[in-house]
Amino acid sequence: MSDNIIGAAKPRIDGPLKLTGLAKYSSDNLLDDMVYAYGVFSSIASGEVTNIDLSVAQQSPGVIDIFHHDHFPQLFRTPSSMEQENKVDEERLPFEDNQVHYAGQFVALVVADSFENARAAAYKVKVDYKTSPVLANLAQAVKVNGTQLHQDSRNSRGDPEPAFQSAQHKIDFTYVTPVETHNPMEMHATVAAWSGDKLTMYDTTQGVVNARNVYAKVFGLSPDRVEVITPFLGSGFGSKLWPWPHAIAAAAAAREVGRPVQLVVPRQEMFTTTGHRPETSQRLRLATDDDGRLVSLRHESISTTSTIDQGNNPYVESCGKMTQGLYSCENLLVTHSTTGTNRGTPTSMRAPGAAPGLFALESAMDEMAIEAGLDPLEFRRRNYADSDESKGLPWSSNKLREAYDQAAEKFGWSKRNSEIGSMRDGNEIVGWGMATCNWEAIRRPCDARVSLRADGTAYASCATQDIGTGTYTIVAQAVSQVTGLPLEKIEVELGDSSYPSGPISGGSWATATALPAVAAAARKALEELKSYAVSERGAFVGAKADDLSIENGQLKSADGKTVAFAEVLKQRKLASADGEAHTGGAPTDQYAFRSFGAHFVEVRWDQGISNLRVSRVVSAIDVGRAVNTLTSRNQVEGAIVMGVGMALFEQTEYDHRNGRPVNNNYAEYLVPVHADQPEVDVILLDYPDYKFNEFGARGIGEIGITGLAAAVANAVYHATGKRIRELPITMDKLMDDVPQAQQA
Ligand code: MOS
Repeated sequence: MSDNIIGAAKPRIDGPLKLTGLAKYSSDNLLDDMVYAYGVFSSIASGEVTNIDLSVAQQSPGVIDIFHHDHFPQLFRTPSSMEQENKVDEERLPFEDNQVHYAGQFVALVVADSFENARAAAYKVKVDYKTSPVLANLAQAVKVNGTQLHQDSRNSRGDPEPAFQSAQHKIDFTYVTPVETHNPMEMHATVAAWSGDKLTMYDTTQGVVNARNVYAKVFGLSPDRVEVITPFLGSGFGSKLWPWPHAIAAAAAAREVGRPVQLVVPRQEMFTTTGHRPETSQRLRLATDDDGRLVSLRHESISTTSTIDQGNNPYVESCGKMTQGLYSCENLLVTHSTTGTNRGTPTSMRAPGAAPGLFALESAMDEMAIEAGLDPLEFRRRNYADSDESKGLPWSSNKLREAYDQAAEKFGWSKRNSEIGSMRDGNEIVGWGMATCNWEAIRRPCDARVSLRADGTAYASCATQDIGTGTYTIVAQAVSQVTGLPLEKIEVELGDSSYPSGPISGGSWATATALPAVAAAARKALEELKSYAVSERGAFVGAKADDLSIENGQLKSADGKTVAFAEVLKQRKLASADGEAHTGGAPTDQYAFRSFGAHFVEVRWDQGISNLRVSRVVSAIDVGRAVNTLTSRNQVEGAIVMGVGMALFEQTEYDHRNGRPVNNNYAEYLVPVHADQPEVDVILLDYPDYKFNEFGARGIGEIGITGLAAAVANAVYHATGKRIRELPITMDKLMDDVPQAQQA
């Protein structure tokens, strides 16, 4: 048995396919007779289409058809249920009517014989609009329509108001985060092909099963007649979790024109019609006693959603979800409210809720520590939660204190001089800040299939997908762990809805969910193999199946005889021994499952030239067991870079007069580049959480971004004395006497 394959540092088994360009992404599928679709996108954010003039566009070379609200087939909405796995965020169907809810909404779709011809014709479609007043941002929307409180996401205990009033130390501040846009390298794309009433979708989706079910509902088909194929993704960060209008439009157009259709969403419209992290405003009220123990904690947030979504079952950015249980506090209130704006419907973006939520909470914790006269790390230690007080359940495992210890030690936190601006290095003021990170661990039911084959290899399949994180590799590791076969003898197939049903690549669920099913299927395949071995004509005829063990891909009897898997099958003239398994979720009625961690951040502020940069990050992360320490470390490093982007650069800006996004491109939507990359040191704590699953793995995709922006803001305060409560921390906010832009 190769026990240590779990926790090993293994390069991605699909790496060579990606390096050589053989990995096929959605838009790489060039089907016979395929045609191309290009959208016409609304230039207004609110109102209606009054006329569409196609006279010029229809004369454009290569045009096959042009769809719009008066020329589009009747489709059905999906129930949009996460439980039924048919969820979308924008429930309105494309071209359902002539109403316009956001800039960038599809108002027409040109199908032509080439991408260039489709795009050229799309520019010639003339659309007239009647414009309505626009709700361009959170402040405008709250002023006009107020907010809607979501009772089911309200969490309270004790009596926070009197506890706050009578406390010795208190703070009351509001923190604001902007819209951020997912910018995966691979653009959203769909190739839709019909064969009779069977639909095949080569689709950029983080959930082939959910996508299959959505398309089945929308086109009124049995799920058996829809296949969604996504072997590779150039990431998604949440924007590809649930299908968007372009995919449905492509499939409908393909059926209408009777040919496969490819539709790629232009980068510019990935800022409008494929989701974003919404704007938030979060009021934090904290109070402590003289010992620095929290006696009252309130986290009340408002997030934007779309006008389409508001009032229905809107997307809620769950900013306070971690706050409910991260620290011990008897008197607590967490609320979530939304307000509808003329933007596309928002969606999950890496660590939804927790990323903006912990910016607010962990900034407030820093402010509270300073108010109470305590070191920020010591303050957090004093408020460690022994159990999840929001659920009244013990943690399955919580190594937060060890994360604090190890990261603080490696960072050198004890050498911090708490006086503001006191740490200098040449022209630069050095600031040190820290924050806790936190993410809920979720494991869902899952199916998987494993075969041991007569050629000596194993095969595993599951209808999950690899978003780029290394899912192929860890599935192979799980098979290797059970069978003893080396990774190069294990073939893994993911990313096809026709395989046994697996999880979305989201919420950091996939590892914890898929691996137990894969392992169970591998064990079933082994049982079947043993039954062949001990039967008539078998390699171990007469032996008891239970007496056979597994060693390096061989069956071994009690008396030491070994026979390779392949040989066992050959003797019986069988192609394979197969196992298919279903595994359930985690015991959430017995334990609260979360991952924990701590970020320690150094910033450098050069006042003379107004230059701020993040120079160093040390993070200790407790995710149970990291199944693959190479790809896990990679996840945390990537999340830290994304956190630097959140802290210093990222914001989608909208013109407050008309609601149109202004910086909807790579030149003006800033993300970190190499020059912005800090020195990063990731410590992976290794405490397997066997209450969660047999691998002890809780998943690692999201936790690294949580708390990072707060740690930066706290370091900036330490360097400059300026408390920035509105992300991103741009330099104008650190300069004295710079008038801030006014939002109407
Ligand atoms: Mo993640 S935001 O659930 O893809």
